[in-house]
Amino acid sequence: MNENRKKIETSPYKGVRDFYPEDWFIEKYIFSVWHQTAERFGYSEYSSSPLEPAELYRAKSGEELVSEQTYTFTDRGGREVTLRPEMTPTLARMIAAKRRELTFPLRWFSIQNIFRYEQPQKGRLREHFQLNTDIFGVLGLEAEVEIISLASAILKNFGALDADFEIKINSKKLLEDLFVSFSISAEQAKKLSQILDKKEKIGRDVYEASVKDLLGGKAGEVIYTLDVNDRLRERIEGTSSMKNMEELVSRLEAVGVRNLSFTPTLTRGFEYYTDIVFEVFDTDPANRRALLGGGRYDNLLEIFGADPIPAIGFGFGDVTLKDFLAGRKLLPEYHAGAALYLCRAGDTAYEELVRFADRLRKAGLGVTLDLSGKKVGDQIKIADRLRISFVLCFGEEEIKSKKYRVKNLKSGEEKILREEEISEFIRSYS
Ligand code: HAM
Repeated sequence: MNENRKKIETSPYKGVRDFYPEDWFIEKYIFSVWHQTAERFGYSEYSSSPLEPAELYRAKSGEELVSEQTYTFTDRGGREVTLRPEMTPTLARMIAAKRRELTFPLRWFSIQNIFRYEQPQKGRLREHFQLNTDIFGVLGLEAEVEIISLASAILKNFGALDADFEIKINSKKLLEDLFVSFSISAEQAKKLSQILDKKEKIGRDVYEASVKDLLGGKAGEVIYTLDVNDRLRERIEGTSSMKNMEELVSRLEAVGVRNLSFTPTLTRGFEYYTDIVFEVFDTDPANRRALLGGGRYDNLLEIFGADPIPAIGFGFGDVTLKDFLAGRKLLPEYHAGAALYLCRAGDTAYEELVRFADRLRKAGLGVTLDLSGKKVGDQIKIADRLRISFVLCFGEEEIKSKKYRVKNLKSGEEKILREEEISEFIRSYS
């Protein structure tokens, strides 16, 4: 090798992951629960390219995301291109493009990789997978109830209990009403929302100081009202936004979603949200970041010059979810894709082995054929290390007797079977 040539690193690019089979097994499990639950709720799957024109995000995705967190480049044709930092603008674009052909209410889901140039840290990476589920075409609270119930059902389908997670909800309209009640100008309200959005990140002292800087003498009362829900309720009692929030909570409770917490300081960074917003958190404080977040966005189609269609949905990331599941021992144990390792005994012709394996595969079994050329004992060790559950040693004796000894490596149990019994026997364990 040329001594001067710099060695290429084997580690992946900063903030992204390689998925070795054991890691991908977990991802696939997460995707399967997401997929199954969304389909059970009647959602249809869509997909798209991760490449989008940069302008798609400028209109309404929010300042921080666009100016600090996107991967944007100029292509060879001089176009500005962004790797999607979220799915919602793509979904809105797809719906605006075919709105006349689509049937509303529309329920769609997608599981895609998302790219954000963030400081990699616990719960935050530069590429993650995200489930997006959205409803288009429903103005009433039925949509909120369904989408929040769906979020809760997904967590339950992973084995979580109500006590394991908390659903924080708020409403942008309600915050507007509150700000109006304090005669806070629209410009100040926008800045105040930005401060609230960063509240956890900046800490209590900086939060209070920033609100004081912005609002002067009113700040103390505003901070207190945002902290004490009863005070807030009193202040905007009778407004349609407060009534809406109360009705949503009681409707969700009526369908069994009880781990709700009304959180007036929850704002969510995206500018497109118009009313109800929500985030779900792990109740274990070690996993601090949201598991999922979403809200109602009734006007996003306007950026395409189309008439608005009411919409609500959420994005659910795999990174914090994996920490959530690992912390509660809810992740499945890894096993290889193949259920049977076919060992070669003695110097049996490989063609015999291949033909036998093919017959078992046709019967529906995943079969790994030994290619190591090692002794049978070592072949079995390989099968065990690959986490293949069953082994069968195939040689002259088996060819003659047409009887096969199948061993379960986990339990040590052995069974002598005829060829046509093998597949069913092994599959009865999965
Ligand atoms: P979001 O809150 O930005 O919302 O992201 C949703 C979820 O994706 C977060 O709760 C988190 O689990 C995960 N997530 C986001 N950024 C990262 C990251 N850098 N690393 C790891 N996980 C991350 C949205 O993206 C909205 N578009 C969701 C939506 C759909 N609203 C309506 N429909």
